[in-house]
Amino acid sequence: MNKRTTSLISILLLVLFVGAFLAACGASQPPATASTGSQPAATTPDGQTLLQERCTVCHNLNRVTSAHKTADQWTTTVERMVGKGAQLDTQEQQTLIDYLAQTYP
Ligand code: HEC
Repeated sequence: MNKRTTSLISILLLVLFVGAFLAACGASQPPATASTGSQPAATTPDGQTLLQERCTVCHNLNRVTSAHKTADQWTTTVERMVGKGAQLDTQEQQTLIDYLAQTYP
């Protein structure tokens, strides 16, 4: 085995070792911030995050931020956007509608 091959193998082993180490760390971490309290369900992002992530796929946020609607009207709009293809489950729709109705009344 020449010197080059040997050093290649040590690099490979090092990478494998670091990878395994990181994986072990990740696995042993407690479920992230699950117990911080105020958030209702740890898996549901907040309204602002939902708006920025799910409502900017087809148009920018100007459409949203320049609108002023009641909770009922926001419900209709969000349902309409879901009909067009916005990716939101029922829980996320509710979170977003609450956020919109509060922020852009
Ligand atoms: C699949 C594409 C798509 C996604 C995702 C999407 N929209 Fe839209 N949106 C449109 C299109 C197309 C229009 C313009 C045509 C219309 O109004 O029907 C529009 C128009 C709008 C309008 C202006 C018309 C109105 O009813 O006041 C608002 C407000 C709006 N979208 C909000 C949102 C929000 C909030 C989200 C996130 C839940 C969202 N959109 C996600 C496609 C989308």
